[in-house]
Parts: sequence; C-alpha cells; structure tokens
Amino acid sequence: MSQSNIRFPKKFMWGASTSAHQVEGGQHNQWTVWELDNAKSLAARAPYHYEDLDSWSRVREQATTPSNYVSGRAVDHYNRYADDFDLLTQLNLNTFRFSIEWSRVEPEQGKWDAAAIEHYRDYLKALEARNITPVVTLFHFTLPVWFSELGGFEKRRNVKYFQNYVEKIITELGQHMKYIVTINEPEVYAAQSYHEGNWPPQRRSRWLTWRVLENQIAAHAQASRFIRTKSRKYQVSMAYSVSHVYAGDDALLSRWYARVFDELANHYVLRRSMRHNTYIGLNYYFSDRIYGYRVHNPNDELSDLGWDMQPQDIRYVLEDLSDRYNKPILITENGLADAEDESRQWWLTETIRAMHRARENGVNLLGYLHWSLLDNFEWDKGFWPKFGLVSVNRNTQERTIRPSARGYARVVSSVTKE
Ligand code: BGC
Repeated sequence: MSQSNIRFPKKFMWGASTSAHQVEGGQHNQWTVWELDNAKSLAARAPYHYEDLDSWSRVREQATTPSNYVSGRAVDHYNRYADDFDLLTQLNLNTFRFSIEWSRVEPEQGKWDAAAIEHYRDYLKALEARNITPVVTLFHFTLPVWFSELGGFEKRRNVKYFQNYVEKIITELGQHMKYIVTINEPEVYAAQSYHEGNWPPQRRSRWLTWRVLENQIAAHAQASRFIRTKSRKYQVSMAYSVSHVYAGDDALLSRWYARVFDELANHYVLRRSMRHNTYIGLNYYFSDRIYGYRVHNPNDELSDLGWDMQPQDIRYVLEDLSDRYNKPILITENGLADAEDESRQWWLTETIRAMHRARENGVNLLGYLHWSLLDNFEWDKGFWPKFGLVSVNRNTQERTIRPSARGYARVVSSVTKE
C-alpha cells in the first residue's frame, strides 16, 4: 500500500487475538464434553455443510475426520505461550488479546485452583516483560461443566457465579490488566447455542435465546460496575460482533428491512449494554447486503469458509458506531480463514486503509487486533479453517510466520509515527 499519507499514533494498539479454548489445549469444560459426544456426527455431516466451498477439495480429508472436531492439545499454547509472545514481538505487535479459562480457575463451584491462577499471573507477567499490552477476555464461549449443568446463562440466578469468578480474577490479577472484555460476542453465543442449535447445549428456543442474551447483558453490567469501582484505570467492554448492513437496491422493502436487520442483529445488545462500557470492542468479519427480506451477498471474493470478503466496509461500521455511541473503539477481532495465505495481505491492507479513513473522519480508534495470532480450533468446524497470522503444524507444533504476517509487521512499523 502507498503509506506515505497514512499515519497512526505511537500509542496505537497493534496486535492479534486468541481465546483460551481455541489455542491452549488440555481443557475440561462444556465444549470438550460436547466435542467428544459429537465429533463423529460433525465429521459425517461435513460434506453436507461444506462441499460447495471452493476450499472443499483441500479441506475434505481433514473435515471428514472425527479428530478434527476434538480440541485435544489444540496448539499447546498453554505450555508454549512464551514462545508465542516472542512471535508478537517479531511481528512488531504491542497488544495481545486472550481469554482466561474459567473452568481452569474454578473447576468446581467455589473451589479456586491456585496453580491455574498462578499460570495466568506468569502469563500476564510474560506479556509485561515484552511490553505487550494485554486485552483480557473473561468469557469466550466456554464454561465450567458445573456452571453449564446449573443451566449456564439460561438462568438469571446463575449470573452471581460469573460475578464471583470476575471478582476473583480482578482481585488476584487485576494489577496486570487495564483493557477488559467481559463477554465475547454475546449475540453469537446466544444465537449459535440456543437459536441455530449448532453449539452446546444445542437447545433451540426463542425464549432461551432471549434469556441468554439478557442474562449476559446483566452479567456484563454487574461485572463492569465491580471492575470500575475497583479502579478507574480499567477499560471495560464486551466484544460485539457487528456487520455492515446495507440495502442492495432502492426498493422500499430492502431499505426498510436493512434498517430492521441492523437494529436487531447489531444494535440491540450494543444499546442495552453501552452505559457499562468505557470503550467499544468490535469484532468485524463481514457485511450483509439485503434484498427484500433476505441477505444476499455479492460473493465475488470468498474466504475458505465461504464468507463474502468486504474488508473495506469496516470503515462504515467504525463511523456508525462512533456516531451513535460516541466512545473510543478497539477492533478486538477481524480476519479471515485463508489456509493458502492468498487474500490475507490484501485484507490487511484494505482494512488499514479503511481504519485510516475512519480516523480522518473523527473516529477515536484505539487499536486493531487481528484474528488470529495462530491457526486454531474453530469451534464446531474444528481445525480445518486457518485464521492464523502464524500457521501451526499440529503434529510437531511448529509455528511458521505466514508471508502476510510479515507484510502486516512491515506496514505497522511504517505507518506508526509520533
Ligand atoms: C469468535 C472467534 C472465532 C472467529 C472466527 C468470532 O466469532 O469470537 O472465537 O474463531 O469469530 O469465526
């Protein structure tokens, strides 16, 4: 990209994101229980879901093998985190988002695992030693088994258990933190687990979808109140999944439905939780083009997962969020599944240009965290989608920096000026 006119301030947060379950390995939570029960059927149903994808011939073998759907040792980040942090340094990145695994810290209700807490203390110190700012997520789709057996976020009375966990983490580890994401993508979690029925506990009910959303909003409010009372240094948000919604034609119906869709899919949770945020955590992956009552995307450029790629549209999301809510924004996730690394460099370039334009138009943008640092476990799709700046050979656990990541590192150092 021509960077001569593109500038980002020295304090801009450049980084990458992960979540515990997707990289750590060795988990025991509601997801691992579900994976073991469902690996065979997920593998058997893979052709039905993915055989139309351009990537299918490449991924078929992995996608039809049950072990693909079991997180197992994942990419062993639990043991290899120090080396992984060195990769961040090599890539000129100053920020890292990760999640703390609640099921490790509180494996039984009310019983805290001191060794697990110590692990995360060492982990945070290892980031500190490298001058890397942590962005800490407290709940990223995985729950202790005991909590999900009590009904998880389906029940309002269970919110207190999440609050106990939050208080424990802040009390023990808060001195090493500033940026906190209480809950990752509450709307995606509620929709996938309780509406689409794709994720555990695979219960399909409109009532439960709504309850789980509301209870996460309540959990966020309580957590944020506690955290901000402890210290004003903390910056708190959820990470919201927001798409750019636009009408594909001038028809009244398309324009009207685009507005309704945007309000429901993107702004319901944002509006209900905004007063408990000091910033906005934004996860942006795609746009939704509306024709009539349907999402119908151009699909000119597709990622390995078949997602329509419109990286430049992040600009509209940034400007809209900034206009509506007037808070600083941190891009907590953004990226694509691209095993061959064909489009990632282009994606990053387009995104950085769009961020620059949004900043010129007055958006207070704190930083950009690419999803993901490492190839990882992509939930019900398992390991075949490759989102990493760094690829991982899971037989040897060897890490290889992808060419696009080197490009990202070069851009970061050339656009960052006083
Ligand atoms: C989630 C990540 C996931 C990514 C790509 C987000 O919805 O927070 O955990 O890997 O999207 O699908």
